[in-house]
This record gives sequence, structure tokens and C-alpha cells, in this order.
Amino acid sequence: MAAADRQSMAAGHCMLLLALLCSPVTALDPYSVGAAILGTGSVLIKALPGSQYFMSRSCGEETPFSGYDLEKELNEKLFGQHLAHKLVLQSLRGFMKNKNPRKPLVMSFHGWTGTGKNHITSIVVKNIFKLGMASESVHFFVVTLHFPHEDHVRLHKDQLKSWIQGNVSRCERSIFIFDEADKLHPELIRMMKSFLDNYNNIDGVSYRRAIFIFISNLGGDLINQKMLKFWKAKKKREELVYSDFEDMLSSELFNNNESGFRQSEIIAKDIIDIYVPFLPLEFIHVKNCVLAELKRMGLPEDETLAMEIAEDVGYFPKEERIFSTKGCRSVGKKLDQLL
Ligand SMILES: *[C@@H]1O[C@H](CO)[C@@H](O)[C@H](O)[C@H]1NC(C)=O
Ligand SMILES: *[C@@H]1O[C@H](CO)[C@@H](O)[C@H](O)[C@H]1NC(C)=O
Repeated sequence: MAAADRQSMAAGHCMLLLALLCSPVTALDPYSVGAAILGTGSVLIKALPGSQYFMSRSCGEETPFSGYDLEKELNEKLFGQHLAHKLVLQSLRGFMKNKNPRKPLVMSFHGWTGTGKNHITSIVVKNIFKLGMASESVHFFVVTLHFPHEDHVRLHKDQLKSWIQGNVSRCERSIFIFDEADKLHPELIRMMKSFLDNYNNIDGVSYRRAIFIFISNLGGDLINQKMLKFWKAKKKREELVYSDFEDMLSSELFNNNESGFRQSEIIAKDIIDIYVPFLPLEFIHVKNCVLAELKRMGLPEDETLAMEIAEDVGYFPKEERIFSTKGCRSVGKKLDQLL
């Protein structure tokens, strides 16, 4: 039995580490030879009790995570968000490197539309799963769409609970994303708390390799006000640091009477690991968005066109026109119209 267990473990590692890293493992461990001969090991795994755990390691076509690659991609594709860049990169680096994290990674993204919250999410996801947002291990919910009815809270709660349980027990590395997260019903948030906290396991399932991302506009106004103040004091946006925002955002989520997280233990008990502020974008960032979009479409870099489009979006304050009201949101559409 012990040998069989080890075999299944080796098979799990094989799938996790891909063939390349697998050979040294097989060389070191005589028990894994059988698994190697069996190829994917799926036959073996099906036959063994408790195999679910090992099976889970291979789902969703995980790619080997590289902090270097993520950083490179953020440099190329995310503009004007030095804090989000740093915070998300740091968190992911630490979390993905850790073979035995204490709890799942829980991040809360805040800011106005078009500032890059969904954009960075899909970049992160793509660096973990080959298929990105289309991966079977990635679960994207728009709260007002997927859990719309106040009077169906019980149903939504049972549903979401079984989805989280079902998916994580199949694939430990699962990502759950909630857009418009501030609109989650408090009951749903309360239900999720046990999954997010640092328990070893719940009913034999460990949630500690999962990632939860909450996205909302909540706190966006506060971020923009702070930014304006900063700009009026003639400071550079890069001088803003995390401590300028952390308490502000967590207390907004905790106290705002329209927040589903109001008075939630998830916040009181520090279960959310980071509160990521997305700053309002400036002309240069919008322009860079256009250039990046042109590149993505395989078109030549066109500075004039990029300037033209960046000029064309709305800015505030009305007089000075410093910060874009919709960020990069409408850039793609404008490009489509012009081309
Ligand atoms: C996984 O989550 C999806 C929703 O993203 C749900 O439709 C599906 O039933 C879940 N799978 C399991 C096994 O619970
Ligand atoms: C929510 O808070 C706002 C301002 O903070 C206040 O004007 C409004 O009346 C409050 N709504 C409720 C339902 O308490």
C-alpha cells in the first residue's frame, strides 16, 4: 500500500512538473518507475483510494509559473499602475513558490472602470493556466449576473458553496474571480469565509492553493480624490505607496453601507491579503494602451493615431483634463471604429 501510494504521488508530481522535471524525480525514486511506464498515470490513479488529491494537481493545464515572465508581461501591458504591478507580482511570487501556503491567496481589486482590474486579472490567470480565463480551473462570476436575486440567496449560497467545494476538490489550484464583488450578498461572503481562512482542510479538501480575486469599483472615488490631492500638491504618482491606500480601502469595504462586505469577518480577521488600488489613468497611459492594442492586433505602431484616440476620451477635472474618466475601457472600440 505504501509503495502504491508513493507511486501515485510520483505520478502526481509527473503531471505537475511536466515531463522535463519529471525524469530526475524518476531517477531518484525507484517507486516512480511504474508510474513513468504507465505514462500519464491516470490508470493507476483511478484505481487507488485517496487518489483525488493527486489527480487534482494536473487539472486545468497549469503552466509552470515564473515571476520573471509575469513581471515582463505586466511591464508590457499594464500602464500607470505601479502599486497594482508591485503588489500583485509580489503576492503571486510568494504564493506560487510556496508549496504549502497557510491559506488561499485572497486579493481585492479597487478602482474606476478601465483602470486595468480585469486586465491584470486575465494576465495573472494566463500566467498560471495555459488557457487563461478559458481554463476549466478558472471561475469568473459577475455578481449581478450570476447571483442576482435577493430572494434567492439561499439557492445562490448552496450553489456557490458546492461549486467551490466541487471544483477545489477536483483541482486544488482553482481561481475564483468575482466582478462587482461589493454587490455580493453578505450571506455569500459569510459562507465563503471558511474557504478563505487558514484551515488545514475542510472535509478532507484543502483550499490553500486556491486563489480568490474580488473586483469592484468600490473605493474608486476615494482613490481618485486622493490622486487629485496628490496631483495638486505637485507630487508624482509613483510616490504614492501602499500605506496611502490599504486602510482606506479596507475600511471602505468594511463600512460602506452598500458593501456586501460590511462588518464582515473576512475583513476584520485580515483574511483578504491585499487591497489593490487602481489609480485613474493619465493621457500617456491611455496612449500606451492604444499602442499595446495595435501591437496585439498585429498592426504597426502609430503614434499619431494613438495620440488622437487618447485625446478623444474624457478627462477630469474638467479644466485641467488630467485623469481619464474611463481609462482604457473604450480604446478597443475606438480603434475598431477608426480602422
Ligand atoms: C465548477 O464551477 C462551475 C462554475 O464555474 C460549475 O458550473 C461547476 O458545476 C462546478 N463543478 C463542480 C464539480 O462543482
Ligand atoms: C448610506 O450612506 C450614505 C452616505 O454615507 C447615506 O447618505 C445614506 O443615507 C446611507 N444609506 C443607508 C440605507 O443607510
